[in-house]
Amino acid sequence: MITVERQPKVPITDIEQSAFCRTDESLEAKPLIEEFKAKVEWQPLPKDYMGLKPDELSDRIAVARAKLGDQLMILGHHYQRDEIIKFADYRGDSYLLSQYAGKQKEAEYVVFCGVHFMAETADILTGPNQKVILPNMKAGCSMADMAPTEDALDAWADLSAVVLDGLIPVTYMNSTADIKALCGRNEGIVCTSSNATEAFQWAFRRGEKILFFPDQHLGRNTSLKLGIPVEEMVVWNPFKPLGGLTEDEIRNSKVILWQGHCSVHTRFTVKQINEAREKFPDVQVVVHPECVQEVVEAADMDGSTEFIIKVVEDAPAGSVFGIGTEINLVSRLAKENPDKTIFSLDPVVCPCATMYRIHPAYLAWVAEGLVAGKVANQITVNEDTAHYARLALEQMLSLKRG
Ligand code: 13P
Ligand code: SF4
Repeated sequence: MITVERQPKVPITDIEQSAFCRTDESLEAKPLIEEFKAKVEWQPLPKDYMGLKPDELSDRIAVARAKLGDQLMILGHHYQRDEIIKFADYRGDSYLLSQYAGKQKEAEYVVFCGVHFMAETADILTGPNQKVILPNMKAGCSMADMAPTEDALDAWADLSAVVLDGLIPVTYMNSTADIKALCGRNEGIVCTSSNATEAFQWAFRRGEKILFFPDQHLGRNTSLKLGIPVEEMVVWNPFKPLGGLTEDEIRNSKVILWQGHCSVHTRFTVKQINEAREKFPDVQVVVHPECVQEVVEAADMDGSTEFIIKVVEDAPAGSVFGIGTEINLVSRLAKENPDKTIFSLDPVVCPCATMYRIHPAYLAWVAEGLVAGKVANQITVNEDTAHYARLALEQMLSLKRG
């Protein structure tokens, strides 16, 4: 057996998750020097960028972007701040952004306003002459950090010794390129929240059992949708030998869920849903499938960020929505749909602390650097890893989207 008992190590990004939570302030950006007061790790920036006001930064980004023209493509995930998303050539959920990255072969520079695993994926899917840039290298993902590559490789080796045949590795997009490569090397697949059901069905056509990294909640909610009872799911604790499971528990399970979670989506509770229903009897509750099982079951609908947007946009005027996903997206939906009542289920304004680290000062810094011929914060995945990760990603991109 390879897994040894280790001291549980909570990722720094998870400890930092509540750093930007507030009850009474707007989400508007402040000069970076003020935002640095939030006790999280920031990538240091040259002094001249630290005190610039959001309007000044906005003007500078616009100038740099105009100078770069078609050389530059900016991708923005829906959880980015408004001050960033307004510059995105394409905005989307992680599935759509990976599709854009794979299709756009012209832009020399792809600035990815999202988090590290998304930029890695973009590097894998873009052409060899394109450079992918993550404006702030500290923009990771606490969930992805719960599955360090070495732990995932150890778990795969241990499980392969117990389950000799028919174990298929499936990883959520929110994972390292190395874990995606592990899936590509072992006839597995990547999925996002918008095609997890199809990816699980795909895997069950090829084997009897799935090992799913790293979000236990998405894995559980997806399995339940496919009619797999919780009794046939086990949770792999990476800090315990053999995941804290017996060989029989592993052999008798259908899905092995990595013990990871999203610190943003696990904030939503059934109590919040009940309160929303009391306050607005007509409310439709829509949540992301990274929420816990009870929350997904108590909601009216669940789906990826792109799904949530579509549900809201397609609804008639006067509709009321209580939403369980990241606050930047919820507040943007509220602004863009003034004829509907849209609110976050969580009364505390709690942005994803890693997405939030893409402050406009970082975007200005990388864009102005490119104008001056300097490429900062390039994300590169080595060719061997990229090759196998690409196999698992291309497999995902060939699935029908849910
Ligand atoms: P989607 O973009 O797939 O909806 O995922 C949400 C998320 O948490 C990204 O990190
Ligand atoms: Fe990671 Fe959750 Fe933030 Fe998405 S919302 S980047 S899963 S911590």
